[in-house]
Amino acid sequence: MKSPEFKTISAVAHPNIAFIKYWGNRDQALRLPCNSSLSMNLSGLETRTTVRFDPHLTRDVFVFSGEVVVGPVLERVSSFLDRIRSLAKLNVYAHIISRNNFPAGAGIASSASAFAALALAASHAVGLDLNEQELSRLARRGSGSASRSIPGGFVEWQAGTSDADSFAFSIAPANHWDLVDLVCVLDSTHKSVGSTGGHALADSSPLQPIRLAHVRERVDQCRKAILERDFESFAQVVEEDSNFMHAVMRTSNPPLHYWLPETEIVLWNVLNWRKEGIPACSTVDAGPNVHVLVLSEYASEIENQLAELSGVQKIFKASPGPGASLC
Ligand code: PMV
Repeated sequence: MKSPEFKTISAVAHPNIAFIKYWGNRDQALRLPCNSSLSMNLSGLETRTTVRFDPHLTRDVFVFSGEVVVGPVLERVSSFLDRIRSLAKLNVYAHIISRNNFPAGAGIASSASAFAALALAASHAVGLDLNEQELSRLARRGSGSASRSIPGGFVEWQAGTSDADSFAFSIAPANHWDLVDLVCVLDSTHKSVGSTGGHALADSSPLQPIRLAHVRERVDQCRKAILERDFESFAQVVEEDSNFMHAVMRTSNPPLHYWLPETEIVLWNVLNWRKEGIPACSTVDAGPNVHVLVLSEYASEIENQLAELSGVQKIFKASPGPGASLC
């Protein structure tokens, strides 16, 4: 019997920064989150991934930044591809070649762009033509935040009630608001507890129910602030939400302390600049690096001031970016 022909397909996706954070799963295996979240895709920063299914392979082969990957990372990629194989009713392994244009451990969630690009490229490579919701649900299975890197611009991931309705959608296009994310890299080494392990600890914190109690209001306030381009309301809710997540992390068992002393220095300065009337606010993911969100007309001034602060090693500058696409 002649084996089926498989196309080589490439896709590009951007990482995203969460304004209202996802922390903790209702269902770990399905990555169904405890709460809805909001984010912005980061233009200029990207993962490019090429996939080709090959009937001659005896296992998946994953090459990242020119290096063959083995171990837990390959297993995570392979089990994600198993999902696509089962959707396509296919039992063929794949070659995956992937590259980021930003360094790992830079405080930019590379798993989001990685699984969004892989979901798009691999589903096309097996001949599936999934719509945006289906792709977002699929990407979610690799990394929760990857669901938000499928649609473009400003994005909401609705927690939903099941696998079927837990997906992300765009609430405004990338050109809706001239926000800039100045990513301050304070430490580029890999974190000891990644977000998958961290989500599993969220319920061990007595503060997680308190974080969740008012998260819907924060999502509503943040969505409204984005839609109305109301920076003051946006800044207040973004900082509050990030602080809630880190309070949960620090009080989980075992506790997760992601911040460095330099993290506090950046956060403190951003608060002061805002008191002086500069539209800047901050948010921190599962690491020490600080995302400083600022209106674009102030971006150069703030970037120069951030570069002067103790511990700031590098600053990446990103504006609202598009969704995942074939390339
Ligand atoms: O998608 P994950 O499993 O990498 O989790 C992302 C967790 C945070 O970045 C801390 C918050 C978020 O919503 O992106």
